[in-house]
Amino acid sequence: MATLLDLKSIHKSYGAVQALNGVSLTVREGEVLAICGDNGAGKSTLIKIVSGAEAATSGQVFLRGKEVHFASPADALACGVATIYQDLALAPRLQVYQNIFMGAELTRATFIPFLRILDKKKMSQAAADYLGRLNIEIKDMKAPVASLSGGQRQAVAISRALRWQASLVIMDEPTAALGVRETAQVLDLIRQLHDQAVTIIIISHNMEDVVAVATRIVILKNGLKLGECLTENLTAAELSRMIALGDLGDRNIIRQTAVE
Ligand SMILES: Nc1ncnc2c1ncn2[C@@H]1O[C@H](COP(=O)(O)OP(=O)(O)OP(=O)(O)O)[C@@H](O)[C@H]1O
Ligand SMILES: [Mg+2]
Repeated sequence: MATLLDLKSIHKSYGAVQALNGVSLTVREGEVLAICGDNGAGKSTLIKIVSGAEAATSGQVFLRGKEVHFASPADALACGVATIYQDLALAPRLQVYQNIFMGAELTRATFIPFLRILDKKKMSQAAADYLGRLNIEIKDMKAPVASLSGGQRQAVAISRALRWQASLVIMDEPTAALGVRETAQVLDLIRQLHDQAVTIIIISHNMEDVVAVATRIVILKNGLKLGECLTENLTAAELSRMIALGDLGDRNIIRQTAVE
């Protein structure tokens, strides 16, 4: 599989705290990569650097072989890298379709030359299409996001990524605040995205979720990459043990980033 994202020796320090200490990582087109590790391992810091929310102290980020320097999440989004943070960054009082099209609204011409107005009907229809692609039914595109369930809100956030034709969707703890049924719904959303050839990076403390959806796992500890393993035949208990012991044993696959 072709390489989508390549991180080379990423360091990040916050004053005296070394959050990342030289992490290199390759993400291939179409995979669901999970980043695991204890609290404070550096997972969120790593994705903040990929998403343009933070700048690395040193190191390089390559997207499809080209070095990138995202100045902000909007900058990354314009290049097809969408990050869904735990708080989802949705506007709860705005309607479903307004959230999906936020910052990139559709407009239409009017009978007054050069005057364009928001095309609410088209945006509502397209919003329903994006949600349909994810198998999520939200009856009213004009409902405020505040009235939706946690799983439905995740679907709105993911639809927003689809609207930008994101080729990489990064999710930080997407199921942390959800109940059993909504968690299942979000895991299904991830599978739908995967089926549509979207590449996904997921951070999760829930080992059951990780083994259920990820194709590969990277484990971080104290700002370092401990190793990588495939999820095939891996149980949640085994994964928890590897993280707790800080050792992947025979499961560790050391991949050469230069080799395809
Ligand atoms: N803005 C910041 N200022 C100072 N230190 C920070 C900042 N952000 C993160 N850190 C530190 O960097 C380290 C890595 O934090 P990070 O949030 O990346 O961990 P994490 O793996 O996402 O943990 P968790 O599982 O708890 O979310 C921690 O020691 C944390 O305290
Ligand atoms: Mg975190």
